[in-house]
Amino acid sequence: MRILVINGPNLNSLGTREPHIYGATTLADIEQALITRAAAHSIAIDFVQSNHEGVIIDTIQQMHPVIHGIIINPGAFTHYSYAIRDALSAVSVPVIEVHISNVYKREPFRHHSVIAGIATGQIAGLGWHGYLYALDWFIDAAASA
Ligand code: DQA
Repeated sequence: MRILVINGPNLNSLGTREPHIYGATTLADIEQALITRAAAHSIAIDFVQSNHEGVIIDTIQQMHPVIHGIIINPGAFTHYSYAIRDALSAVSVPVIEVHISNVYKREPFRHHSVIAGIATGQIAGLGWHGYLYALDWFIDAAASA
């Protein structure tokens, strides 16, 4: 099994970006934790972080033939990128949407996700561990397949 983990704009600044909201854990720390968990289950894992909508779309289009699932935190693109939604909708693999913060307790513009309607599921508000829980879903799904 091979999983693609996508992080959108400003998530490269985790650790220093509004730590009262997003915590002190860096994206490198999160990726290392995912690598460790994936390796224990013989899962290959790929990462992309981009502040650019087109790079995220290009990556989805290029990678989807060789992956079995996508974990994505689209950052602010969550709330308005129909283009990323369309790219994800066009692929046949399960998509888990992750948000570090509980977007539903924050500003009203964060309450709506244009991604959620095409995602298999969404995890929000459980901190960076949400990425691990998303990976666990793929591990459990593979075990029961
Ligand atoms: C976020 C929530 C978004 O509203 C915000 O724009 C982000 C991060 C989260 O992980 O909580 O960049 O996706």
